[in-house]
Amino acid sequence: MAYTVPKLTDFSNSALDSATSAVLSALEQDAATVDSENDWKAFRDRWMARKSGVLTQLNDSWLKAAPKDAKREVGQFVNHLRVIIEEKVLRVKELCDFHSDLQTKFEKKWPTYELAKAFIELAARNGQILTADEAVKKAEPVDVTLPGVRRPLGAEHPVIRTMNEIISVFRNLGYSVEEGPEIETDYYNFEALNFPPNHPARDTQDTLFIAGQESKPLRDRLLLRTHTSPVQIRTMEKMRPPVRVVCPGKVHRNDALDATHSPIFHQVEGLAVDTNITFCDLKGTLDHAMKALFGSSVKTRFYPSFFPFTEPSADVQISCIFCDGKGTRDGGPCRNCKASGWIELLGCGMVDPNVYGFVNYDPAIFSGFAFGMGVERIAILKYGVDDIQLFFQGDVRFLEQFGWAGL
Ligand code: PHE
Repeated sequence: MAYTVPKLTDFSNSALDSATSAVLSALEQDAATVDSENDWKAFRDRWMARKSGVLTQLNDSWLKAAPKDAKREVGQFVNHLRVIIEEKVLRVKELCDFHSDLQTKFEKKWPTYELAKAFIELAARNGQILTADEAVKKAEPVDVTLPGVRRPLGAEHPVIRTMNEIISVFRNLGYSVEEGPEIETDYYNFEALNFPPNHPARDTQDTLFIAGQESKPLRDRLLLRTHTSPVQIRTMEKMRPPVRVVCPGKVHRNDALDATHSPIFHQVEGLAVDTNITFCDLKGTLDHAMKALFGSSVKTRFYPSFFPFTEPSADVQISCIFCDGKGTRDGGPCRNCKASGWIELLGCGMVDPNVYGFVNYDPAIFSGFAFGMGVERIAILKYGVDDIQLFFQGDVRFLEQFGWAGL
């Protein structure tokens, strides 16, 4: 569409102004129609051809036609337009080259090409420059068949989960929760629990002592607690009966690791002290707890045992949850209970009167029971885990099985 420059009769500044804006808007409109190299050539000729291009027309019908005293002024308007027109023609060429570059890069990928073009135009509108490569990268179609980004879901660690489950069984019975330090003194870990210095019962717990404390009296020496029983003493020191607490926590022993032993493990301790507490209460409480944890068909059995801080003491066994206490499974001996039909699970007993002596409870008035259970051992049975190490290796393939999707 050729543009013809209007002849001027009025050479005043305001007439020149409005004539100039008419030329500029014609230029914009014409530039917008350019879509190819050939378009651009025609466009260039319309505006810059020697013979009848707009620039020549401006020269002839504005500058040459102007009266002498207006020539200087008109010359400035025409020069201004020349600069803009030449610049525009260059810019349109650049855009043209750019688009054909895009086209060759993306041949027949038309949606990509159109989208890339749109990105470039959008960026230009925001005053930014996007190169062809950047635009194409942005516009590349998304491959919807690629696997998505999977966000791993966290899961409560099975040991903590089991610990919380045990705690909630006792919370429902009215027990509260107490905690104590993992680095304990010899006094709380042993002495106040009726393990006298040099008593052979200490050898049953291979203890890790903190080094360099030889100058301290034995009772003040620090060690990694070997059980949660010291929290019994700490609790009785700060409260009077009735006491009903469970004490969950981490404990340490100098044990070599294998499928069933770990130098670090967890226990939940229990302590109930009041007037008239008997062994029957202990039996009823633990029988209920085992049924709550393993199912109502589980039976319990109390076997004589020894702990310095309980008298009498017992080991609690539950009927084997794998063979229903039969001792045989699939026509052979049950491996989980070594064919005995029973699995040993925890230690317990009536609090030894000697222990009350350490905490100023009168054994003539008060009686109570205590128990302690290994959390990993219970988790192993509940979830069918065959190696205690799995709890501590942090392998997500193991841990994620305890997420909501794994259970
Ligand atoms: N503390 C004992 C242990 O770790 C278990 C226990 C606790 C026994 C409470 C009796 C009473 O072996």
